[in-house]
Amino acid sequence: MVRLSLKSPLLSTFSLLFFFIFFTISFAELCNPNDKKALLNIKKAFNNAYYFASWKAEEDCCTWYSVQCDENSHRIISLTLAVDKQISGQIPPHVGELPFLQYLTFHKLPNLVGPIQPAIAKLHNLKHLDISWTKISGTIPDFLSSLSNLSYISLSFSNLSGAIPSSLSKLPNLSYLQLDRSKLTGQIPDSFGDFKAENFNLYLSHNKLSGKIPPSLSKVDFSAIDLSRNKLEGDAYMIFGAQKKAWNVDLSRNLLAFDMSKVVFSTNLFMLDVNHNKIFGGLPPQMSKLSLTSLNVSYNRLCGQIPKGKKLKRFGVDSYFHNKCLCGKPLESCK
Ligand SMILES: *[C@@H]1O[C@H](CO)[C@@H](O)[C@H](O)[C@H]1NC(C)=O
Ligand SMILES: *[C@@H]1O[C@H](CO)[C@@H](O)[C@H](O)[C@H]1NC(C)=O
Ligand SMILES: *[C@@H]1O[C@H](CO)[C@@H](O)[C@H](O)[C@H]1NC(C)=O
Ligand SMILES: *[C@@H]1O[C@H](CO)[C@@H](O)[C@H](O)[C@H]1NC(C)=O
Repeated sequence: MVRLSLKSPLLSTFSLLFFFIFFTISFAELCNPNDKKALLNIKKAFNNAYYFASWKAEEDCCTWYSVQCDENSHRIISLTLAVDKQISGQIPPHVGELPFLQYLTFHKLPNLVGPIQPAIAKLHNLKHLDISWTKISGTIPDFLSSLSNLSYISLSFSNLSGAIPSSLSKLPNLSYLQLDRSKLTGQIPDSFGDFKAENFNLYLSHNKLSGKIPPSLSKVDFSAIDLSRNKLEGDAYMIFGAQKKAWNVDLSRNLLAFDMSKVVFSTNLFMLDVNHNKIFGGLPPQMSKLSLTSLNVSYNRLCGQIPKGKKLKRFGVDSYFHNKCLCGKPLESCK
């Protein structure tokens, strides 16, 4: 009798606990049903590729591989599809049905083709857009400039063509723009002088950009700028100057022609590559004061004495060779 009366409250506590655990496991789905629907449509559009094996309709989508939910709202804020050969076809329009998305990445997907999905225009919370190392083609859409939370855009290693939209400079928070290794043509937009962010990173290398570098770029606070392997001509004075903060400047393999002796370098510069251009004049003596870690002025039309001092001497012949009449250590002494 005594045993039974003791046991029954214990039993009911256990059954309550059991019920509670059962309840939380089966009904504690945090994922928003609209987000889940959009994700399942994305999975379907990619023919249920193995990459999406963890995306099971009966499970909470906040636990799925390669997505992330916000801690409080439990809305999907990040979607990353990366390094997979089976994901093939176009970016599905359903990505536009994840309205709280802040980070969207399609990276190293060699079978991702077609244009930059227009439905991305609906993602007003997007901060970070990375569609890189894919086969996407078409032009860079103007609508990106209306996603005003964007601070990071990478579209590198693509099959994009056409001109760079000048409207990108309207993005108030953009501080990283990487459009290298595509088939972009035309000029660097004048409006690119309007980028306001501090420590701006601009990568436009390995395209078919032509014309002059816009003088307006002198206004931008670059941290790194890579315009290499294009068909840019004229001068590059706007990139340099004593007050500039850029640590890395790569202008190599263009058609730039300007007098190097007129350039004032900032002491913030650590890496300078201007090889394969038509740059003339001499290396300014002030260069010997820079703490460069890498330097390449080869294959230009430079002349005169390499500024004396330890700092420039430690670079090898291949930092200076194939110029018109550059001389002094490490090259042959001047006559
Ligand atoms: C930028 O994001 C914030 C929060 O993520 C949001 O409140 C705001 O509306 C977004 N900006 C625009 C222009 O949509
Ligand atoms: C820009 O970024 C700052 C700080 O990261 C943020 O406070 C601001 O809301 C952002 N503005 C827009 C338009 O996204
Ligand atoms: C790349 O773009 C060109 C047009 O610029 C097109 O002819 C070619 O089929 C595209 N390649 C791929 C893999 O999409
Ligand atoms: C400089 O560029 C030239 C041409 O591309 C290359 O041959 C040389 O090795 C480079 N030098 C250094 C130090 O990287």
